[in-house]
Amino acid sequence: MNGAFITATDTGVGKTFVACALLRAAVRRGLRVAAMKPCETGEGDDGERLIAATGRALDPNLARPYRFAIPASPEAAAAAEHATVDVDRITSAFHALAADADLTIVEGAGGLLVPLAPGVLMVDLAARLGLPLLIVARASLGTVNHTLLTIEAARRRDLRVAGVIFTRASDSHGADEATNPLAIATHGKTHILGALPHVTDAAQLDELAERFLLVDDILKLCQIQPRAR
Ligand SMILES: Nc1ncnc2c1ncn2[C@@H]1O[C@H](COP(=O)(O)OP(=O)(O)OP(=O)(O)O)[C@@H](O)[C@H]1O
Ligand SMILES: [Mg+2]
Repeated sequence: MNGAFITATDTGVGKTFVACALLRAAVRRGLRVAAMKPCETGEGDDGERLIAATGRALDPNLARPYRFAIPASPEAAAAAEHATVDVDRITSAFHALAADADLTIVEGAGGLLVPLAPGVLMVDLAARLGLPLLIVARASLGTVNHTLLTIEAARRRDLRVAGVIFTRASDSHGADEATNPLAIATHGKTHILGALPHVTDAAQLDELAERFLLVDDILKLCQIQPRAR
């Protein structure tokens, strides 16, 4: 059972964008893939985009089990509808998907310390699923701090950080940016697994993955290993 939990340094950084590029690259390599957005809040359609990228007719009850209207954390958005996210239900859905796939990609909501349910943060779900983390980060100013904080929060909980992928939701470039990947790799003792340029045409996704993601390295790092404890 192979897979990864895609998180980011913040909401709106590019988790779904990167996940779709990676899924399609895996499909091109002949892998049977699955994807999951355990909890979607607000207007997004991440679950549908992920399902489409797998090229399969995944059961939406498994691939996107929870959906809440207000754009807030899963815990708050569920509470607004007098509901609670059940981590057991998400875990069962994940196992059902993963049992029928070579690679299963799970996309969190926001970043690692976003509340999922009372007493449960998104990082706890990643730990529960036993998946290595792929951290999607902005290329721009502020990313070193946010990415190192994310790595530290993950490691404190014994999660394996597979590496960091940069993407650009906007095409502005700052003067400092060239030094960010090396700073993160060395201070965070982690791999940089790709850096996507800003593109204006989503049809370029396939080409982007092949040119700018270390797809084969990522797939190797996504092999689920026994938990340290
Ligand atoms: N390399 C890129 N080129 C062009 N647009 C990009 C790129 N990376 C990300 N984006 C855009 O940035 C926006 C945010 O990306 P995305 O929806 O993947 O973020 P997210 O982290 O999944 O957000 P959420 O927390 O809502 O799930 C989207 O409009 C996406 O298309
Ligand atoms: Mg998303």
